[in-house]
Amino acid sequence: MLNIKNINIFNKKVLLRLDLNVPIKNKVIMSYKRIELSLPTIKYVIKKGGYLIILSHLGRPIEGKYDKNFSLLPIVKYLRKKINISIKLVNNYLDIDNLKLKYKNKILVLENVRFNIGETKNCNILSKKYAKLCDIFVMDAFATAHRKHSSTYGIIKYAPISCIGILFLKEIKILSKLISNPCRPLISIVGGSKISTKFNILNNLAKKSDTLIVGGGISNTFISIDNEVGKSLYEPSYINKAKKLRNKYNIPVPIDCRVTKKISKSSNSYIKNVNNISSNEEIVDFGNETIKYLYKILVKAKTILWNGPVGIFEYPNYRKGTEMIVKAILKSNAFSIVGGGDTILALELFGISDKISYISSGGGSFLEFIQGNKLPVISILKKNKNKIN
Ligand code: 3PG
Repeated sequence: MLNIKNINIFNKKVLLRLDLNVPIKNKVIMSYKRIELSLPTIKYVIKKGGYLIILSHLGRPIEGKYDKNFSLLPIVKYLRKKINISIKLVNNYLDIDNLKLKYKNKILVLENVRFNIGETKNCNILSKKYAKLCDIFVMDAFATAHRKHSSTYGIIKYAPISCIGILFLKEIKILSKLISNPCRPLISIVGGSKISTKFNILNNLAKKSDTLIVGGGISNTFISIDNEVGKSLYEPSYINKAKKLRNKYNIPVPIDCRVTKKISKSSNSYIKNVNNISSNEEIVDFGNETIKYLYKILVKAKTILWNGPVGIFEYPNYRKGTEMIVKAILKSNAFSIVGGGDTILALELFGISDKISYISSGGGSFLEFIQGNKLPVISILKKNKNKIN
C-alpha cells in the first residue's frame, strides 16, 4: 500500500479518514485514546503544508438525520486544545463548492459521515462526492478498516490518490509481527455488545487460541444454548453457531453470573447459577465462581489478546469480571495485546494502560486482522496502489 510518507502533499487537499469514534457520555469524552493516536498523521499533514480535511464516524446514528448526540463537536473541541491551528466543524459539506475547502492554516472537520445517506451501504454516489473533496485520500482509520463503507472503502475507487496514514501503517506492522508466532498458551478474550460483528470471527480466533474466553452479549448467547437468559443482551440467530463452536473448541462458558431486574448504579444485583435465570432478569456480569475459574486459567497465559469488556463495566457494580481480567493480566506477566474503544476505556478506568504490551486502536478490525482475515480496506488499497489519476 502507498503510505502518506511516499507522497508529496504540499498544497494538496488531503482528506484524512480517522476513527474518532470515542466513548462519549453526557457530552463528555470518556477516553481520548483514539484521538491521541490520530494526532501524528494530523500533525504530519500540517507540517508538510497540506490543506487538511478530516472525516470520521461517531457511533451508529440513523442515516439521513442530524442528531446532536452523535455530533463530532466534543471531539473538535478537544482537538482545538491539542493543535495550535484554527479548526472548523463543517455541516452539509457534500454541497460545498470544492474551492471553499481550501483553507490555509485551518483544519476542517466534516460532520459525522454516518449522517450521510448511503455511508454504511457503500453508496457509489456518496463515495464519488467524498472523492471530489480531495486531491489525496488518506485512510488512517485502522479501527474501521473492516467496514466496507463509502468513507472507508468506496472513496478509494474514485479519489485521485489513496494511501494509508501513520497510525494505520504502525498498526499493521506491529500486529503482524506480534501474532506471527505468539508465546503459548495464547488466551483470547472477546466481550462487548457488538455480537454479530464478533461472532463471525470467533471460529478463526478460537482455532488460533489455546482458550477463548467469551463475555458480554457473546457469552450470553453461549449461555442461551441450554438456559433461559431472561432480558439479557444475546443473539438468538447465533445459538446454533455458538453450539458448534462450544463443541469444537476450548471455550469455557460461564457457570454463574450477576443478574439484575433493573440496570442502574444502585439497583439490587445478585449472583445466580446460569440454569436459574428468570425471564425478568438480565445478566450484567460474570458471577463469582466464573470469575475465580477464569482467573486461574488466565494467569497461566503467555499471550493475552483482549477485545471487549465482559460485563456492563460502565457501572461500578457490574465490573468485577472486567476487573478480574485486568488483575490476571498484571499477575500473569503475559504479553498483552488489547484493542477496542470500550476496552481501552476499561484499561484507563483501572489505570493500567501503561502496563499493556500493545494497545491497538481497532476493536472489530483488530480481531479480524490478528486472525488473518483480509480487511476490505487493505485489499482495495493494495489493488489501487498504482492508480494515480
Ligand atoms: C469500532 O469502534 O470498532 C469502530 O469505530 C467501528 O465502529 P462500528 O462497529 O460502529 O462500525
